[in-house]
Amino acid sequence: MAHRSIWTDEYMRTKGISPATRERLLHAARKAMKNAYAPYSKFRVGAAILTSKGQVFTGCNVENASYGMTNCAERTAIFSAVADKGPNLQIVAVAVANAQGVPCSPCGACRQVIYEFGPDATIFYDGKKGPKQSHITELLPEGFRLK
Ligand code: THU
Repeated sequence: MAHRSIWTDEYMRTKGISPATRERLLHAARKAMKNAYAPYSKFRVGAAILTSKGQVFTGCNVENASYGMTNCAERTAIFSAVADKGPNLQIVAVAVANAQGVPCSPCGACRQVIYEFGPDATIFYDGKKGPKQSHITELLPEGFRLK
């Protein structure tokens, strides 16, 4: 699909995340998306997070007959990372992909969970005008912190 990319090399350099890393994350998110369990919404989502140690963790949405129990792809990825590596997680970047080719930024709950571990994180997602990147604080101004 021919979206004009807003990610010039220069812009990415100033953000400290290379285009290659961005593509690697998006690729991982698309792969995870294929595992989504979304029989109710049929809306399949995948996410990949990059940690400060350079590791990538992925997740997909997992729905439930009791709809509110649904876990989004972003939170699945973050919880998997904590389960695997422990609580000292620092998120550098998050990529989100969906199978429907529609705009899909992280929901409010996921923004707060991303902020917990990545107050300086860059988020890659499909915006209304194509691929987009935002700082987590653009998506979640005044995120909540206890410490
Ligand atoms: N969903 C995600 O996994 N991530 C998002 O960023 C937006 C929404 C899921 C939740 C639900 O399974 C489906 O998409 C429809 O809301």
